[in-house]
Amino acid sequence: MIFNHVVKVILLLYGIQITHEKQADHPNLYFSSRDINRLRQQAQTTHRDIFFRLKEAAEEMKKKPSRFLPPRDWNKFASRWNEDHGNNFGALAMYCVLNEKDLLARDVAMQFFDAFVSLPNWRVNASMVDDVPVAHSLVAVATAYDFMYEYLDDNLRTKSFKRSWMSQRNFTKDPSRFLGEHNTFKITWQLIMSLSLLVH
Ligand SMILES: *[C@@H]1O[C@H](CO)[C@@H](O)[C@H](O)[C@H]1NC(C)=O
Ligand SMILES: *[C@@H]1O[C@H](CO)[C@@H](O)[C@H](O)[C@H]1NC(C)=O
Repeated sequence: MIFNHVVKVILLLYGIQITHEKQADHPNLYFSSRDINRLRQQAQTTHRDIFFRLKEAAEEMKKKPSRFLPPRDWNKFASRWNEDHGNNFGALAMYCVLNEKDLLARDVAMQFFDAFVSLPNWRVNASMVDDVPVAHSLVAVATAYDFMYEYLDDNLRTKSFKRSWMSQRNFTKDPSRFLGEHNTFKITWQLIMSLSLLVH
């Protein structure tokens, strides 16, 4: 598939750029560690509205984590459309980058990692072949992994990496799945995922 070649070329270029700049491994997806101070300043000034919304979401998650965390029981997790867990996790991870003093938020984020990696897969039982819910979880875990790498202990690093890598391998076995519904989204998450894990 042409798409696979395009991805390989992009990854190659990206790899060269990373080695060339010799920057820290993570974050490397949307910003690097050098950008974080600026992002934190912007969160207090020009981008306060966005930061406020992230903070509000984080406050909700801190109040009652169990309402947001993926259930560790796969039957429960898979019993309904489950993309909301990943969507919330992504927002929380960004908030944790912007406000590193909020240790409770970081603790909830660690619980998200832990719950996601404890599940055997991220599918919905009623539609096991549907990759879209998997993609939502995968984007979130891969992005959060990139954003919060320095806070993860070795155990969670390894498990998050392995689980994301396995999910993405399962996903790419059948390239025809890239056709049809949501294909732009699938290609985008594939890229996010590859870029996030590439440095390993
Ligand atoms: C999962 O789906 C299958 C068939 O689609 C059904 O037989 C089974 O009871 C479901 N499992 C759960 C835990 O809902
Ligand atoms: C990958 O696929 C295998 C078999 O097709 C399945 O047993 C496994 O749970 C899947 N892993 C993930 C992480 O989805």
